[in-house]
Amino acid sequence: MGLIGCGNMALNDHARTYLAHPERFRVVAAADPTPERLALGREMLGLLAVDVYADAAAVVARPDVEVVDVCTPQHTRRDIVEAAAAAGKHVLCEKPLATVPADAAAMVAATRAAGVLLGVVHNYYFFPEIAAALQLLRDGAIGQVEVAILNYLGVIDLPGNAAYRPTWRHEAALAGGGVLMDMLHVVYVAEALLGRTIERVSGYVDARDPGAPVESLALCRFETERNAALVNVGWGVGPGGIEVSGSAGRLALGYRDGATSPFVPFEEMVLHDTVGRRRISVPAGAPDPFTALALDFADAVVHGRDPIAPGEQGLHTLEATLAVYESCALGRTVTLPLDHGDPVYRLGVAGVNELELPDWSPVRRHRLFGAG
Ligand SMILES: NC(=O)c1ccc[n+]([C@@H]2O[C@H](COP(=O)([O-])OP(=O)(O)OC[C@H]3O[C@@H](n4cnc5c(N)ncnc54)[C@H](O)[C@@H]3O)[C@@H](O)[C@H]2O)c1
Repeated sequence: MGLIGCGNMALNDHARTYLAHPERFRVVAAADPTPERLALGREMLGLLAVDVYADAAAVVARPDVEVVDVCTPQHTRRDIVEAAAAAGKHVLCEKPLATVPADAAAMVAATRAAGVLLGVVHNYYFFPEIAAALQLLRDGAIGQVEVAILNYLGVIDLPGNAAYRPTWRHEAALAGGGVLMDMLHVVYVAEALLGRTIERVSGYVDARDPGAPVESLALCRFETERNAALVNVGWGVGPGGIEVSGSAGRLALGYRDGATSPFVPFEEMVLHDTVGRRRISVPAGAPDPFTALALDFADAVVHGRDPIAPGEQGLHTLEATLAVYESCALGRTVTLPLDHGDPVYRLGVAGVNELELPDWSPVRRHRLFGAG
């Protein structure tokens, strides 16, 4: 493995997993432009000075790197992933895959053309309660799924590491959006709970602080051919939890004090069905969500299959997320996939500047994403 970016996620989760699973992973090189983070990464991974670099390209070029693990902020990724594909290296990439769908599509095309894997860190599939809920729904525990309601209104606004740019999550050009883009996990989890592909999107976004460049609240509706999800995400202290209802029952996942996952622990899963109400136990002892995802990716490399979230899924999830911003800006439902001529497809959230926004558009009113 070559680790690109030695930030919080890279060292707290990725490096820890690789060190704990030497039978699967060996990190031979790392890169980060900040000397402080590079030194931390080097020390934690037990690398030599000659194995750490300020420039990601040096890691990609190393002949002993088989998989490039991209843990940089999302606006930086296209060049790194295209270079990795050109060098014949598999890529594991943090979420969101990119800030701009056109970039994400280019990354998917480059890796497919090179015959290397591109896996996106959609690790929320592996939260034990989410994995257990998905299995119950697949088994038909509540009949046909009709509605999924996901509340993540108590997301804690954690800064990036101090040595780099702690506020990058609040910069539209770097993060590609605000709290929803940062927590786009909820978009693919909602889709998985529905069991069908998201086709249409509508949304409302708002910002608590005047002059904030990105949203701190996003209320979204994701429609498939047959069912729909309501997804509410916010930096703040609002409620958390997931409820799914179907033709023959409902399933509820609760977190401590009704707050938001993963900032508080999972508390209980309750199934209401034709038999009555009962608590469902969630199997214990599973690896943590990132470790489970990384092991899936390693298995995919070894067996030459796609990982759980290949690049195409990263692209689709990114488009569904950006469609919320576009819908709110325009005041209408947006259809997926985005048209390649759509400014939001070409430019990401900056594309809202090229749209005809009604006077009452919340995006315009708050001048979100640089909208005039
Ligand atoms: N999957 C998850 O659950 C999860 C959780 C947290 C963060 N993330 C994702 O991980 C990524 C990083 O987030 P973070 O919280 O670690 O941020 P961070 O700011 O702590 O770290 C980012 C690091 O990338 C480095 N960097 C920037 N440009 C680089 C380049 N061109 N080459 C090499 N290194 C470069 C920075 O110096 C910094 O150390 C984000 O995309 C974020 O969305 C995912």
